[in-house]
Amino acid sequence: MKHLISPSILSADFANLKDDVDMINRSNADWFHVDIMDGVFVPNISFGFPVLSAINRYAMKPLDVHLMIVEPDRYLQQFRDYGAHNITVHFEACTHLHRTIQAIKDVGCKAGVALNPHTPVAMLSEVIEDLDLVLIMSVNPGFGGQQFIENTYQKIRQLKALAAGKNDSLLIEVDGGINLGNAGELLRAGTDVLVAGNAIFSAKDPEDAIDELKNISVSNIRI
Ligand code: DX5
Ligand code: ZN
Repeated sequence: MKHLISPSILSADFANLKDDVDMINRSNADWFHVDIMDGVFVPNISFGFPVLSAINRYAMKPLDVHLMIVEPDRYLQQFRDYGAHNITVHFEACTHLHRTIQAIKDVGCKAGVALNPHTPVAMLSEVIEDLDLVLIMSVNPGFGGQQFIENTYQKIRQLKALAAGKNDSLLIEVDGGINLGNAGELLRAGTDVLVAGNAIFSAKDPEDAIDELKNISVSNIRI
């Protein structure tokens, strides 16, 4: 499968949001990555349902919703109603993760779990078969434009190994500090979905930046 690109709306121009949504619609991107932050789970507040609903009105590609919030179970139905295709919750925010994964599926969404940089991949061993995607954070969540954490490569390989034979359709998504300098190596390690905010929206031509990320070819055999 060719890898997917999920531009992070967090880095968009919120005063001209429709322009950026249209740009992603036109581009070679696959999903819209939508970061929801509550100021409790992470030290930042992004936006909520009114903005999600505005994006959903114009987005012509699936909404990849990344919930950086405590008690995500309370809002799953609403996120679905506002257009979420994937709902990704944080391992560190879910006391009853197994139940939450089932609840995401029950509302009709693809179920994802995100891991903070300090959380070992092995924490997912009991639920790996139930997941549609795992999001490996390659920065500490909360802000765009941070520096990529190099330890991410080995976590991707460990996740690949954990899922092998148990869940071969699992998508491995990586989020934070991704740019043309590290994307090739991330793909070689086994990444299926690249999230990028700053690298796309601070580029002179964001549509070209998406193209460049999408057109990276991974000639080496995946480990
Ligand atoms: C960080 C968010 C990311 C962020 C990525 O907490 O989850 O999705 O927007 O932005 P860049 O690519 O700028 O690190
Ligand atoms: Zn994100």
